[in-house]
Amino acid sequence: MTVSQIPGITLNDGSTIPQLGFGVFQIEPQDTVEAVREALRIGYRHIDTAEMYGNEKEVGEAIRDLDRDDIFVTSKLNNKFHEPADARKAFDDTLSDLGTDYVDLFLIHWPLPTLYDGDYVSTWKVLEEFKSDGRARSVGVSNFQTEHLERLAAETETVPSVNQIEVHPYFANDAVRAYGREHGIVTEAWSPIAQGGVLEDSTITRIADKVGKTPAQVVLRWHVQRGDIVFPKSVTPSRMQENFELFDFELESADMDDITALDQGEDGRTGPNPDTFDKVPS
Ligand SMILES: NC(=O)c1ccc[n+]([C@@H]2O[C@H](COP(=O)([O-])OP(=O)(O)OC[C@H]3O[C@@H](n4cnc5c(N)ncnc54)[C@H](OP(=O)(O)O)[C@@H]3O)[C@@H](O)[C@H]2O)c1
Repeated sequence: MTVSQIPGITLNDGSTIPQLGFGVFQIEPQDTVEAVREALRIGYRHIDTAEMYGNEKEVGEAIRDLDRDDIFVTSKLNNKFHEPADARKAFDDTLSDLGTDYVDLFLIHWPLPTLYDGDYVSTWKVLEEFKSDGRARSVGVSNFQTEHLERLAAETETVPSVNQIEVHPYFANDAVRAYGREHGIVTEAWSPIAQGGVLEDSTITRIADKVGKTPAQVVLRWHVQRGDIVFPKSVTPSRMQENFELFDFELESADMDDITALDQGEDGRTGPNPDTFDKVPS
């Protein structure tokens, strides 16, 4: 598998994003340079970080050896900095820490509807500024529910290019995905293997045995065939390699349906509910 064989997805602003990337949530700063360099060596060219992950500087150091145009970098606004002036300063700091003039994609990390008077709309308008001045090639949101997306549609000019939300076989999140599909917003599936929590499921291991792939490859392939973007995280080189090998096989529709049927609705959610999540780093 070469880099050019990773499919690209065209966003609503005409930019292209690699469908497979590498996530760096919960990678300690001291491990990040090595992990990202290893991912790049394997062929990943899309890195998903965030100010709240505390490793933007190290991501920046690891990507410095490549031509900037050969890599797709996403970062996200810290929950602390939703006020417009704070968001502008935070974005300057993100670019400075990454050591780059632009990010390919910048997201509001959480909507925080119970904080800041529920005013994620003003925050979104600041991201529109970053898009128009070219320092964010694309802008999007994360953890937005349908009503949050509807509000942006009613009150602002720019449709987010992506919505990065929790999605995996136990939490298919299909209503929010469907809103995105109908409105040109691509879904990015975070925790795509539920941090390992779906890999021993008997349906998944049965399909993995049948197709001669690992459970992680089967689950990641299920996401890919649903059209979502994925960026599994691993600090283990053999797993990084395994997670990269998704484009030389296909799941038949009965297997896709069996995996989708594992959905447990809200009971399957592993992370916070965006309607009530209000954590702001100190
Ligand atoms: N926007 C948001 O609010 C949000 C929230 C969560 C995550 N994310 C993004 O989504 C990315 C991925 O989500 P995630 O990190 O929560 O979870 P994940 O990718 O679903 O799972 C990562 C965990 O699975 C293990 N793993 C990875 N590949 C494996 C394999 N092939 N076989 C067995 N175990 C494997 C990793 O272990 P080792 O590392 O020890 O190998 C790690 O413990 C994040 O890094 C981040 O970029 C975004």
